[in-house]
Order: sequence, then C-alpha cells, then structure tokens
Amino acid sequence: MKILANFDLPEEYVKRYKDLYHAEVSVCKDKAQLPEAVRDVDILVVSWRLPAGSVAAADSLKWIHSIGAGVDGILTPDVLASKVVVTSSSGIHREPISEHVLGFMLSFVRGFHTFAHQQMKKEWKRFDLEELAGKTLGIIGLGEIGSEIAIRAKGFGMRVIAVKRNAGEKPSHVDELWMPDRLKNLLRESDFVVLSLPLTPETRGFIGESELRAMKKSAYFINISRGKIVQEAKLIQALREGWIAGAGLDVFEEEPLPEKSELWEMPNVIITPHVAGSNPQYTERAMAIFEENLKRFLNGQELANVVDKKIGY
Ligand code: OXD
Repeated sequence: MKILANFDLPEEYVKRYKDLYHAEVSVCKDKAQLPEAVRDVDILVVSWRLPAGSVAAADSLKWIHSIGAGVDGILTPDVLASKVVVTSSSGIHREPISEHVLGFMLSFVRGFHTFAHQQMKKEWKRFDLEELAGKTLGIIGLGEIGSEIAIRAKGFGMRVIAVKRNAGEKPSHVDELWMPDRLKNLLRESDFVVLSLPLTPETRGFIGESELRAMKKSAYFINISRGKIVQEAKLIQALREGWIAGAGLDVFEEEPLPEKSELWEMPNVIITPHVAGSNPQYTERAMAIFEENLKRFLNGQELANVVDKKIGY
C-alpha cells in the first residue's frame, strides 16, 4: 500500500505507517510533480490545497485525506469527477477556533485591541467597557466548530441562537435553533454574529448587503470559516458606513489580505492571518483522525469524516 503526502509529513508518522501498517510512504511537495507522483498511490494525504488536475491520472488512488477541516481547496473538478473517497479532519478545530472567537468577542467588549493601540503610544485613556454576559450570540452553521463556540459562549452567560441547514432537535448549548429561513431573525437579534459555514457553491457570497444591513448597528461580525462566503466589498462598506460596529476576521476573500485593503486601517476591525485553527496539537490531532481511518481502510470498513462531494463538506 502506498501513501503520499503533499506537505512535510513529520518523519515520526512516515516511520509509524511503515512500521505498523507496512505502508510505503513518500512526500511530494512540488505541485508540478504531484500528478506523476500520485499516479500509483492508494492514499493521498493533503494539506489545504490540491492543484486542479493533480489526480486526473491517479488510477490507483482510492482515498484522499485532508489535514484541514474545510475541503473547498481540495474538491477540484478531477477529484469531483473521480470515485476517490475524500475525508476531512473536521473536529480538530473545536478548541482553537472556539477560543479564537471568544478572544475576538472579549476583545471587543473589554477593549483589548484599542488598549493595545493606546499602549504603543503610551496613552492612558479610560473608556466605558461592556461584558459578554447577557449578550446574544448568533451562530450561522452549528457544526463541530459552531457547537463548541456555543458551549463556551454559554459559559460566559451569553444567549446563543443558531441557524443550521438541517436543524434537528435543539441541543442544550443553544437557546434557539432555527432553519436557515430564519437567518434574518438571527441577524436582527444578535450582538455578535459568527460565521461558521463551509465554503461550497451554495455558500459563496452568502453574506451580502441585505444580511449586513439586517444586523444591529451595535453588533460585531466574526468570520473564522472562509472569506469567500462574505461579499468583502459589502462588509467593508458596512464597517465604513456604520451598518455594524466592527468585525473580527481570520479569513478573507484573498489571502494574504492585500496591502491595499481598507480593512487594515479600520480601528473597529481585528485581523488575524488565518490562524484560528492553529495550535501545537494540530498535526497530532489531524493524523490521529487519519490513522483511525487508515485502520478502517485496511479492514475494509466505512471511513469516518467522509465528505459529501455533492454538497461540498
Ligand atoms: C481548515 C482551516 O479548513 O484551518 O482546516 O482553514
């Protein structure tokens, strides 16, 4: 059995898969060489992006595992056209991303980002602060990450409402769970709106003018999923013209965020460079999902975290 990774898979994993599963493991980081390198492998382990055409001639390939949660950069036309099973590392971001979102919200209510700017100028300037307790958090997309954000927000005494594509029974960590047709209600009621959706053809550009205008003028918008779900020009307009109070953004339409973007200069915006999922346990957690699936694969069992190629996550 041959496994290929398109990123720097640490040596300990290469050795582990060889020793425990008798796999032939190789690494190919060169995009141009990938289509050739993948030709006779059974399993491809990928980081966030797979150039289109990479697996067009990979006749032996049976399974692609992504070490990321979002697979929008992997579902290329050749992957979609193939019978290859795609799995993701959905679930490993629960802790870091939920903490990142709480960090954005705490910074807005407790003024940390403003105080950090003041500190650089040795400025002692007091202003009134707020608290998260009693505020309403609206979560768009209640998957692994959205659910963990809800659990933590409840710990801060927030009211949590959420919309979900297939809203079933309401879990105890949300106060209200609605179908997407009530999105506008969520936007109108929330003090913080968190976008926690996968990027799919259906969600591309999903947040535009009418959604942003539906939010309270005092509310903050937080995006930790994918920049392309938001019409960024409209978000910039909303921030500039005061339709909303501010934004905490980890993801952008174009990454790295271009130097010319107005977002850089906005005092009511906190920018982090697509790091919300980062933590020291990243590889260990992603490879644990892979290894559990590897055992299933070798035993002919159904894989976990399988991506529905039709819906895109
Ligand atoms: C991911 C990410 O999808 O970190 O894993 O953006």
